[in-house]
Amino acid sequence: MIRQSLFLLSLFCIIGIIWSCSDAPSNGVPKRLDGGRLWRLNCVSCHGADGALQFQGAFNLTTSTLDLEQRILVITKGRNKMQAYEGVLDADQIEAVARYSMTFNPEL
Ligand code: HEC
Repeated sequence: MIRQSLFLLSLFCIIGIIWSCSDAPSNGVPKRLDGGRLWRLNCVSCHGADGALQFQGAFNLTTSTLDLEQRILVITKGRNKMQAYEGVLDADQIEAVARYSMTFNPEL
């Protein structure tokens, strides 16, 4: 009896661990396409959490008026001190993080 409950308990633990590691969307967006998450992982070091940090000459994204297409281009190919993200992020991820970067400018 005790053995059985221990077995069931460990089974639940394993299922829980696997589930928490999976790409299960928490807000309808799969983790790998969560723009905010991609931003925090790749962009805060220069642009800051709010887009206004201008480390290494990074442009202030709270005032940038680039449209989505232009942003995708800068992020994919890089520009001056900003590195290219092709090969680091796939096209869908670049689009997700580009869209997220547009949320910093209240005028857009
Ligand atoms: C190493 C620092 C660095 C990192 C990391 C970085 N950037 Fe940049 N970013 C820059 C710099 C520097 C510029 C200005 C490029 C220039 O001088 O032409 C820039 C420019 C931009 C622009 C163009 C803004 C405009 O108005 O022209 C966008 C959009 C942008 N970055 C988005 C991102 C995103 C999204 C990420 C993460 C995937 C990211 N950056 C990561 C340094 C960085």
